[in-house]
Amino acid sequence: MRTIRITGTGSALPGRIVTNKELEQLVETSDEWIRERTGIAERHVSVGETVVTLASEAAHKALEQAGKTAEEIDLILVASCSPEQYLPCCACQVQAAIGAVNALAFDVNAACSGFLFALNTADVYLRTGLAENALVIGSEGLSKLVDWQDRNTCVLFGDGAGAAVVEADPARMYYFDQGSDGSRGEALSCPGRPLRSPFVATDQGFAPYIFMDGQEVFRFAVKKVPETVALVLQKAGLTAEDVDLFLLHQANERILQAAARRIGAPVSKFPMNMQACGNTSAASIPILLDEANRKGLLKRGQTVVLSGFGAGLTWGTALFQW
Ligand code: UT7
Repeated sequence: MRTIRITGTGSALPGRIVTNKELEQLVETSDEWIRERTGIAERHVSVGETVVTLASEAAHKALEQAGKTAEEIDLILVASCSPEQYLPCCACQVQAAIGAVNALAFDVNAACSGFLFALNTADVYLRTGLAENALVIGSEGLSKLVDWQDRNTCVLFGDGAGAAVVEADPARMYYFDQGSDGSRGEALSCPGRPLRSPFVATDQGFAPYIFMDGQEVFRFAVKKVPETVALVLQKAGLTAEDVDLFLLHQANERILQAAARRIGAPVSKFPMNMQACGNTSAASIPILLDEANRKGLLKRGQTVVLSGFGAGLTWGTALFQW
């Protein structure tokens, strides 16, 4: 059966690093609290980089590793919940920036599950023969959506991008599960522009920032991630023991530890980088994937599980052979 194979990865992070100590100057928090509750020590914050420039840099690196030119790419998917522009979409801007003149390009917004939703979409395009390859990117500039006076959220997020080149492969396995529960959307939200026109009576005030009920999302994540991983393992006819690496969305070290326990795999199989990157939403999994790849943690033939969860609420998991 025709599925997909990842043939190149890349990532890009803004140069400005903000430490927990620096945040102590902005809000009532402490390095100790942030590290203990989340595992985060620092994050990269854009000071000129955009979702598109970061995505394009990550894309260049992934293409180089895959040995592909931009012109050869059939499909570009950018997962992001923090674009600078409503129009055109990030994927079309990346297409223009890298010169992928032959690609179909569009965005996917499933927040922190976005990269999985985009990867699974690429799998469907490639599986059905609609494309031979795809550039799948997660890119975020969350620093502009965060209220830097709200300690509940500003200590958590970071900016960055990760990319993967995927190509059709007749011999690989690829199983996925994904889902959405819109009825719980209030748990993690961020408003866009309010209605504003000559036909609206009053100017509606709005707070254009991320709001999160942290405990609600925490409970959702520790329950849903093991469930969706178990479902994908079942589809593949495998157990947790057969998996070499679990690359999960980097929201919180405690979530990953709890998920590892419930999945029944040692934490050593769950690489983490939230210490250095914070929570980069749709970018966290492809950044981690690129790190693991470039560090040589991934060996051809190994079984890898990716799993993301977040606003929507949404969740997405993929199991494949590296
Ligand atoms: O990527 C999308 C998915 N997002 C997630 O998965 C995030 C899931 N949630 C979490 O990771 C955790 O819930 C948080 C890290 C956001 C919060 O950790 P928590 O252990 O759930 O803390 P909490 O919200 O229960 O707050 C405990 C206390 C509160 O004080 P009181 O009410 O006990 O006096 C908070 O006000 O910690 C306080 N607090 C802080 N203190 C110092 C909240 N934020 C901070 C802070 N520094 N930055």
